[in-house]
Amino acid sequence: MCGIVGFVGSEQAAPILLDGLARLEYRGYDSAGVAVVSEQHELQVRKAKGRLQALSDAIHGGADLKGCIGMGHTRWATHGAPSEVNSHPHVSAGGKFAVIHNGIIENYVEIKEFLISQGVRFKSETDTEVVAQLLEFYYHECHDFFEAVGRVLRRIEGAYALGMLCADCPDRIIAARKDAPLLLGYGDGCTFLASDATAIIRHTRDVAYMEDGEVAVLTADGIRVYNALSQPVEKEHHRIDWEVSAAEKGGYQHFMLKEIMEQPEALRRAIFPRIRDGKIALGGMKLTNAQIRDFSRIFIVACGSSYHVGMIGKYNLEHLLHRSVEVCLASEFRYSDPIVDEHTLVIVISQSGETLDTMAALREAKKRGAYILSIVNVVGSSIARESDDVLYTWAGPEIAVATTKAYSTQLAVLDMIGLYFGEVLGTVDPAEYGEVVAELQKLPEKMEALLGRCDDIPKYAAEYFNHNSVFFIGRNLDYALGLEGSLKLKEISYIHSEAYASGELKHGTISLIEDGTLVIALGTYAPLFDKAMSNVVEVKARGADVLALTTESHAKEMAKTVENVLTIPDTARLLLPSLGVVPLQLFSYYVALQRGCDIDKPRNLAKSVTVE
Ligand code: AGP
Ligand code: GLU
Repeated sequence: MCGIVGFVGSEQAAPILLDGLARLEYRGYDSAGVAVVSEQHELQVRKAKGRLQALSDAIHGGADLKGCIGMGHTRWATHGAPSEVNSHPHVSAGGKFAVIHNGIIENYVEIKEFLISQGVRFKSETDTEVVAQLLEFYYHECHDFFEAVGRVLRRIEGAYALGMLCADCPDRIIAARKDAPLLLGYGDGCTFLASDATAIIRHTRDVAYMEDGEVAVLTADGIRVYNALSQPVEKEHHRIDWEVSAAEKGGYQHFMLKEIMEQPEALRRAIFPRIRDGKIALGGMKLTNAQIRDFSRIFIVACGSSYHVGMIGKYNLEHLLHRSVEVCLASEFRYSDPIVDEHTLVIVISQSGETLDTMAALREAKKRGAYILSIVNVVGSSIARESDDVLYTWAGPEIAVATTKAYSTQLAVLDMIGLYFGEVLGTVDPAEYGEVVAELQKLPEKMEALLGRCDDIPKYAAEYFNHNSVFFIGRNLDYALGLEGSLKLKEISYIHSEAYASGELKHGTISLIEDGTLVIALGTYAPLFDKAMSNVVEVKARGADVLALTTESHAKEMAKTVENVLTIPDTARLLLPSLGVVPLQLFSYYVALQRGCDIDKPRNLAKSVTVE
């Protein structure tokens, strides 16, 4: 998820590693660490929580760690709070192996239990540590670093970019990749490993990209790469022709755009570990089936975009659970004398896990006896710590103030909660359950395809950027989606915008529609498509300029009434907002770009709102 850099050569490794990690700083992280092999073939490991400067100061810019082979890591916690002991590199109990890892080892609990039963003692709470311990365990059996790596890779499941050092083989790093980026760099008498070319571009522009299942052995003389069957592979070399300055923010002009583009990857992390054999598996959740059956009331409490996720959740959970679900703004809930007792479940949603209103609402609900299940992005945050149960979104660091990938992953996790509870309660139709699970697995791919064909959005943004007032209209899930579309637009472009339930327009708001008013008509929700169309006709009749959003299968129908139509791939109806939000995010982004706004840091706003 965050940064990896490795070096094998004849120069001192530590300063090169620190420099590489500094170049990856734009990604955001909570701790950093390095491992360097000493001339006496010992693994020297140093870690620090917080800024990279703290690590650099601790080792005097690298001068303290002598040695020409090493690797560095910036962590963004997924398993275990950000702390020194949880930061990477992780070292095996016998001190023979050091490991850095980006991604998630999905079956770490089972492996950890097995190793503990074999007498292995763990230090950290991370998933990653099992890799270091397992390496040592297998090495005792086979006495071969490469073979031990092969055995580990056959045992672990999940996503990983791994860098591994062995004190007995002090001339090499072994790297492995599956579903997490990793590249190899070829220097003069030295080789490199990196999660992103930015980390090594000052030293070499000659790189090769590792593929899933490949293992690479890096020595100063060169790099040998093997496929999953341990057969040697010839790698195609690529030349990086962009400049270091272009690498900031991973080459994107803004974090927001980078984070929009990261959504498929973020969804994979949020969804894939939670589906086993076609079933939702909320591993680590303490809530029992008996407790789920016992809840007589369900609340969803959050602020801003997280609240909008809750709005969609209300529709989807009520449909799946046949129970009423109340969605509350945290700032209102906390002062509203809510009807909450020990038979109440409160689902708290927060990217940062630090939003003060949400935290206060959580405490209020807890005081009244409710069970708190939270959906949080930042591991170890206050909300995560104070909840009875937490499901992490694993979206990675979100830096732009306007949330994008956190929203998408929150939505996916909430839908998975709905499916899981629905099965326990026996309220979900098995055919629909199967369909939604299958579509959840296809969601990242469909989103990737969608992101790849949004070229017309900048054109619409250029056409509409100077409107003063925009209305988002839709019914049911499209209404809830409109709330998020509207917030995105207003927070970063400063255009006044409102979201209305289409059927509510005629009760007042339609008086604001006049010649040239921009209406973004959301018509993705198939069951109410015809009803939504009637409202589109109504606003057109009053002179509105309409930009519509619908599914591929309804595009033709929509085009009969509206000229400008954006489309999303078809999917299970519950998941339509997960795709529908993407064009809306991009539209807001490009409108704000046209207006010259400070997209990543809009005026008056903060990423984490820790005041009332
Ligand atoms: C969304 O783009 C916002 N910046 C904001 O509404 C945000 O969703 C809200 O402040 C809640 O934050 P949280 O998810 O970190 O609790
Ligand atoms: N899952 C690992 C951890 O929590 C790696 C996180 C990362 O990719 O930074 O330590």
